[in-house]
Amino acid sequence: MAKIFDKTWQRTSLCGLFTEADAGKEVRANGWVRARRDLGGIIFIEIWDWTGPIQIVFNPEAGEIHKLAASLRNEYCVAVKGRMRIRPEGTENPELKTGNIEIVASDFLVMSKAKPLPFEVGDETDNVDENIRLKYRYLDMRREKMQKNMRTRAKINSFTRKYLEERNFVELETPMLTKATPEGARDYLVPSRVNQGCFYALPQSPQLFKQILMISGFDRYYQIARCFRDEDLRADRQPEFTQVDIEMSYIVEDDVMELIEGYMKGLFKLIRGVDIPTPFIRMPYWEAMDKYGSDKPDLRVKLELCDLSEAFRNSGFDPFKKILEAGGVVRGLRLPGGASMSRKEIMDLEARAIKLGTSGLANFLYKEGGLKGPLVKFLSPDDLEKVRELGKMELDDALFIVANESRGKACEILGTLRLELGKKREDLFDDSPDNWKFLWVTDFPLFEWSTEEKRWVAMHHPFTSPALDNETPFDEDPEHALARAYDCVLNGNEVGGGSIRIHDPEVQARLFKSLGITPEEAKRRFGFFIDALSYGTPPHGGLALGVDRLVMLLCGGNSIRDVMAFPKTQKAQCLMSGAADTVEQERLDELAIKVVKEEE
Ligand code: AMO
Repeated sequence: MAKIFDKTWQRTSLCGLFTEADAGKEVRANGWVRARRDLGGIIFIEIWDWTGPIQIVFNPEAGEIHKLAASLRNEYCVAVKGRMRIRPEGTENPELKTGNIEIVASDFLVMSKAKPLPFEVGDETDNVDENIRLKYRYLDMRREKMQKNMRTRAKINSFTRKYLEERNFVELETPMLTKATPEGARDYLVPSRVNQGCFYALPQSPQLFKQILMISGFDRYYQIARCFRDEDLRADRQPEFTQVDIEMSYIVEDDVMELIEGYMKGLFKLIRGVDIPTPFIRMPYWEAMDKYGSDKPDLRVKLELCDLSEAFRNSGFDPFKKILEAGGVVRGLRLPGGASMSRKEIMDLEARAIKLGTSGLANFLYKEGGLKGPLVKFLSPDDLEKVRELGKMELDDALFIVANESRGKACEILGTLRLELGKKREDLFDDSPDNWKFLWVTDFPLFEWSTEEKRWVAMHHPFTSPALDNETPFDEDPEHALARAYDCVLNGNEVGGGSIRIHDPEVQARLFKSLGITPEEAKRRFGFFIDALSYGTPPHGGLALGVDRLVMLLCGGNSIRDVMAFPKTQKAQCLMSGAADTVEQERLDELAIKVVKEEE
C-alpha cells in the first residue's frame, strides 16, 4: 500500500528541538531536505523547520529507503522515522543546536517534491536579487532569518495587545472601505458596484474613526491597523503598512508620551533584552532642524550644525549678505579632522549638496596659519574669527556652509551631509546593535507651504490642535503657528507620530478655512465628522506607531520589506501574485468603468 502522511508519520518534535535526551528513542521528524551528502555509501541529509535542522542518516543496509534518499533534492518535504542516537565521536557539528545527535532512518516518506530551485534556500539567499526573492517569497521565507523576523513581528504584536489591554485600551476595528482620510498621500480607491460612479477610499489611517470613537465614549482605543497610501515608495515605506493606532480621551501630550515610553521600555526589554532609558529627550522641531538638519534626527551621529549668520551679516561677501537681508540664513556643518580632505573629496561633497538643492557649498579649512578657503579673501580678520568661533572649529577641522533663503532648506541640506559624512566614520557614529537613541520631536509647525498647490497644508493632519500658546491666533499667522503634534524618533527613523486633536467644531472650521478648504468642500469631505464633533466631544489625542519600521529596527534590518510577509516592490507590485493586474471586461462593465489606455 502506498505510504501516505497520517498520524503515524507525524513529528514527535520540531527538528531543532530534539535533544540528547531523545537518544535511544524511536522518533519522527517532518520538514524540508537541506544539505545532502553521500559519504562512502552512507547518505546524510538535514531536514529543516523553523527551529533549525536535524541530521538524518541512511545506511546502505536500509535498502529501499537508502535508494529513495539518493533521489532526494533540496526542499523536498519529507517525513522520517528512526532511532535517535548520539553522533559518533569526531562527527559532531558544534555550530548546530542538534549537532551532537542524528536520526538513523528506518522508514521514510516523500510528502512532496520540489521543482529545481530558483535559488539556494539559506543564509546566502540575502544576496539573491530581491525581485527573485519576492517572486518566490514562500521559499525566501522558508529560512532562518525571515522566520525569525516574522516571528519577532508576531511577538511584538502580541506584546502590544497585552501592554495596551492591561491599561484598559479596547481593540476596535474600523472600516477598510471608507471615505478619504487626509494623511498627505493619494488614496487607493475601490469602485462600488451597487453605487455606480461612487468609490470607497482605503484608509490612509483610521484617524477620523478613532476620533469618533472618543465621541462615542471608548475613551481608550487601539487597533493594529492596516493603512494604505499611494505614495512614492522607499526602503521604509510601503503602499500598505501597519500601525499601532491609539487614541485617548481627557489627556494631554505627557499622557501619550508616558504611555509610549513605557511601551518601548517593555518592548525593547522583551525583544532585545536591553533597558532603554526613559523619559525620552524632548526636542522642539526647530531645535532639531537647527542642530541636526532633520525632524527625525539620528542622535547616534556626533555632528551638529551651527548658525553662521552673524559672521556674514556685515561681511564683504555679498551673495551671503543678500540672502541674509532677504530673511535667509547661513548655516554650517563642522567636520572634525576634515581639513585633510582632498580637493576632489570637497568637490564631490559640493556636487552632492548641489544635488540636494543648494547653489553651492562653501568651505573653510582650519590649517596651521588660520582659516583657508575660497571665501577667506572676502572676510575681515574679525569676521573670520567669528566664523571660527561660531563654527566651534579646531585645528584640522573643516566647515561646510550653505546659505539659503529658507532656514528649513539650508538645515535639511546640511542635515543630509551630516548623516552621510558622519556615518562613514567610526569616531563620529556608533552603530553598535543596541545603541538606541529615542527622542520626541515636539512643537511642529501647524502648517507648511505647498509650492505645488500654492496654499498652506497641514504638516501633521488637519485635525491636529494648534498650540495653546501661539502668540497670534493660528489663522492670522499661519507661518509661525505651532501644533500640539509630536513624533517618536528612533535612530533617525520616525517610528510614530501623533497629536492632541481639535475637539471644538468652531476651531476645526477655522482650520479648514486656513487650509483653503471652503465650508462646502469641508461639508462634502468631512461633514459626518464635523457633525459628530458637535455632540459633546471630549478633549482627546493619540498617536500611531509604524509597526513595520519598529519591527525592522528591532530585527536589526534596514528595509521594512524584510519584516513583511508579502511586501510590494518600488512600483507597488506584488511579484508573487502579480497584483496589480488587469481585470476582465465584464468586471469593468459591472462597475461602469472604462479604461482609457494612453496612446503609445
Ligand atoms: P503618520 O502619518 O505620522 O500619522 O503615521 C504614523 C506612523 O506610520 C508609519 N508610516 C509608514 N510606515 C510604512 N510605510 C508607510 N508608507 C508609512 N507611512 C507612515 C510611520 C509613522 O510615524 N493618523 C496619524 C496618527 C495620529 O495622529 O494619531 C498618522 O497616520 O512610522
